Amino acid sequence: MVSALADKSDIRKKIVAYPFVKWAGGKRLLINEYRKYFPLKGSYITYFEPFLGGGAVFFDLQPEKAILMDINEELINAYKVIQSNLEGLILELKRHKENHCEKYYYQVRNWDRLPDYKDRTPEEKAGRFIYLNRTCFNGLYRVNRNGHNNVPIGRYKNPKILDRENLINVHELLDGDKDIRIINTDYKEVLKYAEKGDFVYFDPPYYPLDDTSFTSYTKNDFGPEDHEKLAEVFMELHKRGCKVALSNSSAEEVYKLYDYDGIDIIPLYARRSINSNSNGRGSIKELLIINYGSELKNK
Ligand SMILES: C[S@@+](CC[C@H](N)C(=O)[O-])C[C@H]1O[C@@H](n2cnc3c(N)ncnc32)[C@H](O)[C@@H]1O
Repeated sequence: MVSALADKSDIRKKIVAYPFVKWAGGKRLLINEYRKYFPLKGSYITYFEPFLGGGAVFFDLQPEKAILMDINEELINAYKVIQSNLEGLILELKRHKENHCEKYYYQVRNWDRLPDYKDRTPEEKAGRFIYLNRTCFNGLYRVNRNGHNNVPIGRYKNPKILDRENLINVHELLDGDKDIRIINTDYKEVLKYAEKGDFVYFDPPYYPLDDTSFTSYTKNDFGPEDHEKLAEVFMELHKRGCKVALSNSSAEEVYKLYDYDGIDIIPLYARRSINSNSNGRGSIKELLIINYGSELKNK
């Protein structure tokens, strides 16, 4: 398959922005591989990313028009605040940076156990969300049954709580001359908006390879039935004439779910920071599933 790399003039215009949170399943290490298989920027109308997470792919593609979604309310609130009131957010992060210590971390973490949490401003909530993400154990997002964050503090000497330059660049991407809409909703809402000629990239919590695979980002897990439903949504968009790409683990069930004519299942090898070495041991096979492979072959 021939590479679908964007041309050089496109690369020159890029804003240097990257995920402002550490996020489980983040795609930064796979971006170079994805570029070979993603459609050229000018070849679709609206870009959809319904499982946005840290947004590594969005920050790389920098589409002119996009609808970004995630079911995690706090994450989406942070994107919206960066889009609409970056100054307010920076003030919050400055305050957290100045006060950061173990006692303060737990005080801020426990805000969501207090009755007035609902009255906090979006900027306060976004500041807390980013502060906890940068200072907690492994950048983990985890809430208990009551929706209360229960992640312990991480062991960082000098965590970067306020990355002003990146936040400014992310703001420019979200609020500049591009048309970017951010929605806190379930991925299936994509069916309400996506039309022929659009490009949809799905990066769901992966199909578990074993019992220990991480699939929980909110109070609800994403299980085998959700993957079956997601495959139906993928095929519905395919019928509509959208370009669709989806990342998933290499579980046997995933091959079965996407075993259709016109759908290509491409194995990719992801480097992992844990257990990886120069022999390639520790690299993990993942799948990229696309419905526009014939277009790439004809390039
Ligand atoms: C694998 S992560 C995406 C990672 C992202 N591509 C990145 O580079 O950081 C999956 C995301 O899906 C979100 N999610 C889980 N269930 C969802 C649902 N039903 N609808 C929309 N988003 C969902 C999670 O909150 C999480 O952010």
